[in-house]
Formats: sequence, structure tokens, C-alpha cells
Amino acid sequence: MVGVPKPRRETRSMPVVAMVGGGQLARMTHQAAVALGQTLRVLAENPGDPAAQVSPDVVLGSHTDYAALREVAQGATALTFDHEHVPTDLLDKLVADGVNVAPPPEALVHAQDKLVMRRKLSELGAPVPRFTEVQTVDDVARFADQVGGQVVIKTIRGGYDGKGVVLADDTEQAVAAAERYLADGVAILVEERVAMRRELSALVARSPFGQGAAWPVVQTVQRDGICVEVIAPAPDLSDELGAQAQQLGLKLADALGVVGVLAVELFETTDGALLVNELAMRPHNSGHWTMDGSVTSQFEQHLRAVLDYPLGDTTARAPVTVMANVLGAPEIPAMSVDERLHHLFARMPDVKVHLYGKGERAGRKLGHVNVVGGIGDRADAEGVAALRERADRAAHWLSHAQWTDDWNEHTADD
Ligand SMILES: Nc1ncnc2c1ncn2[C@@H]1O[C@H](COP(=O)(O)OP(=O)(O)OP(=O)(O)O)[C@@H](O)[C@H]1O
Ligand SMILES: [Mg+2]
Repeated sequence: MVGVPKPRRETRSMPVVAMVGGGQLARMTHQAAVALGQTLRVLAENPGDPAAQVSPDVVLGSHTDYAALREVAQGATALTFDHEHVPTDLLDKLVADGVNVAPPPEALVHAQDKLVMRRKLSELGAPVPRFTEVQTVDDVARFADQVGGQVVIKTIRGGYDGKGVVLADDTEQAVAAAERYLADGVAILVEERVAMRRELSALVARSPFGQGAAWPVVQTVQRDGICVEVIAPAPDLSDELGAQAQQLGLKLADALGVVGVLAVELFETTDGALLVNELAMRPHNSGHWTMDGSVTSQFEQHLRAVLDYPLGDTTARAPVTVMANVLGAPEIPAMSVDERLHHLFARMPDVKVHLYGKGERAGRKLGHVNVVGGIGDRADAEGVAALRERADRAAHWLSHAQWTDDWNEHTADD
């Protein structure tokens, strides 16, 4: 049988970045890698994972299996992450074996361990909510007394999308939550429940050379602990507070020795101050808007940073960009996703769609949309509200096959 000749790939001189985790962040990083003439190598648990579907260079295995980590790192210029769940001892072992782990484990631990992070940030003089470690339930009651208000219980490791975070209404609830975690041997901390105006995110990148770059500070909107919407830049943020947040991000990236993208999740308190909620050292949901709304996307920037390329321009392309996550509907609609896309594109031709190749399931992050403000769109409150309505309408349509404004695609003529 005559074989079909394989296309020649001229990749000898190109670096290979390996990413641990095969989720949507790896999928979109691969997309950026393609534009740079590269192929992202991915460690994925399953061949059907979002990134494993699209990269031809996949190692199947677990992020807790040292042999799999070693295999994916073999010959790679840098090893990086789409989540923070690789055990620290395995990361240290990889470094000892000569792997270029980016961000390095001593930086990454601040995104893995909320207690280490809170302590380090306090030491660095960065503003954080009042907190304490919990050894017994008495610590929770004592702390609640001390701060004289509501408290939040958090698992120190392993949380994501609000899992491992209990916003207690009163001390009794907090104690009960703490009791459950401690009984299961899960390490927790308690912190004050912050009275906030809103949540912000300061996204920056840092290269090993020491170059830093900051995107405009954005507002994030969470529902049930999940980020559902991002407005870039954060509306009505004073130049002073915006600059303060960016400088904080760059300072932390430097002080912690971050390599790659760093997201600093922030609370803007009701009295106008900033508090750091948590850190992520990878592309982050709050940076998805950059794919269409910034000169350099966070995915390309992450690659540039871990490869020690000069960083890209972080300027916004428009006065406002709104990102809305597409979250699986409670009931999967009968209409196919393909048909939903047809209707969306017919009605809203400027909406940029990013789908992750995942099966539909209630509440699951299936994709996101970006609506980039145009010449006719204004950056004032009315303009922002209009863009938010459009992003929400598009995202809701994609997941629910229902228009939030009851428009009917078969009878309408606009
Ligand atoms: N101290 C606090 N006071 C008030 N609200 C809080 C506090 N800590 C957390 N929250 C709320 O809970 C959400 C999730 O908390 P956090 O970011 O710590 O959890 P996570 O599950 O690790 O995060 P992610 O969803 O970013 O993976 C926050 O975005 C915020 O809305
Ligand atoms: Mg968070």
C-alpha cells in the first residue's frame, strides 16, 4: 500500500512549550502557539479534553503522576500550567531534574496555597482581608468575635470556581462549615467577609528577563462563585485606583518571581480601597476579553513570557470590551449548538465566539463571547450597559437557545 506522504513540519528551530492540563486555557494557548509557528504540547487526562482535541502533541496522563509530568516535559523549552493542582513536591522534583518550570514552584505555591499566599502578601505589605489559620472550630468563633462581622471559610488548597469557599451568614454557619471540613481532614482558613463595591482583576505578565506588562484593570462579575462576565476596563475606576492595582500586580509578579501571566483578583471595598482576594499564575477567565479586545491576548503573552520573548503591547483596541461566559443551561436545548450559532451570527454579526469543545452540562463553562465596542459605542454608563446586554444576550442564546429579549428568529425581520 502506498502511504500518503506526511506534510513536512519545519519546527526544528521552534521552541516547544508543554502545558499541564488539557482544559480550555490550554486549548486557547495552543491557538496562540499556532500563530507563533509552534505547537503546544499538552498533558491531558482524556483524549476528549478541550486541548487534547486540537493539539497533535498530547501526552495522556495525570498531573499527579510524576512519570507523566516527566514525559510531557521531555525536551520542552518550558513547562507551564492551565491549573494550579500539581503537588508542590512533584514540581520541586521536576526542577531538580532540570525542567524549566514556569512559573517556578516557589512562585506558584502562592496560587496553590491560600494560607501561604495570605501570609506572604501581608509580609510584602499588600492589602489583604483579615484572616487566620483554623486548627479547631474555636478559632473560627474567636476570629468572628474579633472582626465583629460575617466571615468566610476557605479550603487552603484545591479550590476553584467557588468550590471550597463558604460565605457564612453568621458565626454558627461558619462554625458548622469549619466542623465539616476539619472532620474530613481538609485544611482551612477563616477571613473577614469583605463589604465590597465590586470585584476587579489586575492582569499582568512577567518574563524571566524581568520585563513586566499590565493590561487595563477589569471588573469581574461572579454568580454562585463562578465568573460570568468581565467588563474591560472596569467602568468608573479612577485613574489613581487603576494605576494602584496595576502597580500592585507588577510588584507582586516581581516579588514572587512569577513567570507568565499573573491574575490578581481584587475586592474594591465600599470605602474605595483595594484588597487582594487571590492569585492565579496562568491565563485567567478575567483575561478572556484580551483575545479580541487587546493588541496582545493573554494566551500569546503567557507563551512570550515563559519563552522569555519580549512581551506584547497590552493596549485595549476599543474603549470597552465585554466578555460573557457561556454556561451550560439547566436543561440542554433541543436545538443543536451549530444551529444556535447560525442564528447568533445572523442576528449579531460582530459577536466573537470562543467555544471549548465540551459537552453540554448544567453550569459548565462551555465557552465565552466577546463584544468589542465599536465607533458607535460609547464608554459611558449607557454605552457599557448596552454592550453588557448584548454580551449576555449572545451568551445566553448560545447556552439556552432562548433570547433574553424574547426575539423570535423566525418571525423577526430586523
Ligand atoms: N473574604 C471574602 N469576602 C467576600 N466575598 C468573598 C471573600 N472571599 C471570596 N469571596 C467571594 O467568593 C468568590 C470565590 O472566592 P475565591 O476566589 O477565593 O475562590 P476560588 O474558588 O478559589 O476562586 P476561582 O473561582 O477564582 O477559582 C470570590 O470571587 C468572591 O465573590
Ligand atoms: Mg477566585
